[in-house]
Amino acid sequence: KKVVLAYSGGLDTSIILKWLQTEYGCEVITFTADLGQGEELEPAREKALMLGIAAENIHIVDVREEFVRDFVFPMFRANALYEGLYLLGTSIARPLISQHLVRLAQEHGADAVAHGATGKGNDQVRFELSAYALDPSIRVIAPWREWDLTSRTKLIEFAEQNQIPIAKDKRGEAPFSVDANLLHTSSEGKALEDPAVAAPDYVYQRTVNPEDAPDTPEFIEVSFEKGDAVAIDGEAMSPATILTRLNELGGAHGIGRLDFVENRFVGMKSRGIYETPGGTVLLEAHRGIEQITLDSGAGHLKDSIMPRYAELIYNGFWFSPEREMLQALIDKSQEHVTGTVRLKLYKGMATCVGRWSDHSLYSEAHVTFEDDAGAYDQKDAAGFIRLNALRLKLIANRNARVAE
Ligand code: ARG
Ligand code: SIN
Repeated sequence: KKVVLAYSGGLDTSIILKWLQTEYGCEVITFTADLGQGEELEPAREKALMLGIAAENIHIVDVREEFVRDFVFPMFRANALYEGLYLLGTSIARPLISQHLVRLAQEHGADAVAHGATGKGNDQVRFELSAYALDPSIRVIAPWREWDLTSRTKLIEFAEQNQIPIAKDKRGEAPFSVDANLLHTSSEGKALEDPAVAAPDYVYQRTVNPEDAPDTPEFIEVSFEKGDAVAIDGEAMSPATILTRLNELGGAHGIGRLDFVENRFVGMKSRGIYETPGGTVLLEAHRGIEQITLDSGAGHLKDSIMPRYAELIYNGFWFSPEREMLQALIDKSQEHVTGTVRLKLYKGMATCVGRWSDHSLYSEAHVTFEDDAGAYDQKDAAGFIRLNALRLKLIANRNARVAE
């Protein structure tokens, strides 16, 4: 039996690796993705080798460009926010990881994939719905739902019995659980579990405290083509390079922190601390360019489906016909979302302060408070208002009549 494991190189997935070998008697193939989490990945190879994985069964793949180009950017065309606030940094990475797990399973003739998500969260749902959508015959092993290693003590015991190295700071209870990639860092659990208590400052890893951010604002220009960012300050860059650069800029100005209690798909509420510096800047920039390039009918329609689209991604339905249908609508809306915005970065805020485009629908001739030289006949508005008021008058008359 062969299984492809989503392997981070950390303690928990190393225990899972060993457990799959001993409990399931599996040949394990590891997949470690560089999603821009900012960690060295070669140690994961060393560790896998040490745990008895054959060199040809270890896969370490830089997926940063793929992640931003094929997942993050399509999602940002929608201005997606879950429950009004969460930029979906973890949610959007899971389908990509599953896609690689399934691909490797097929390449190695493996019949199962395995992941390290718990039985209480969203991530198990996302990994597994994606895997089944891509390969309906795949088996999924989720050790956290099966094993009896239900406490830190038991986990450490298992690691010691199996010669799995344990970093000193991992012996005790970890202070909280972290998931990081190019789009965000999220922290949940343990020290953060009481939503009444403010998060300690050391939770934050990629943004400065806005209070400590520079006292002088920084101005940048972001250019878009058909809804995707393509350049910063006139310099064309790849998708992952753009997000990396926006993370540096946003992080330095304390932009993109979020302390949030969300509704998990499995039913419970959960409190998380999120840092999405580049994503927050990108969202403000994209909204800025849409303001002048999107027609109101098109813009309002895409805004109205956004919560549904975000919920689909949150709930793990990236590979579903309804997500693809909404994506087609969103992508169609972006045909003219091309142009440049100027942003002010200052003390935790990214603010669009200017936007221009060859595709702009903004007509100063029409909107001006000065003489518009006949562009717009103000008398037209009288009939427009009269007809729109007609039914409101009929209602008011009816209400007065029946109240008598
Ligand atoms: N609650 C977030 C989501 O469902 C993040 C989950 C993973 N984060 C973590 N710290 N383990 O997308
Ligand atoms: C987990 O339970 O593995 C992380 C949290 C989540 O999936 O929502």
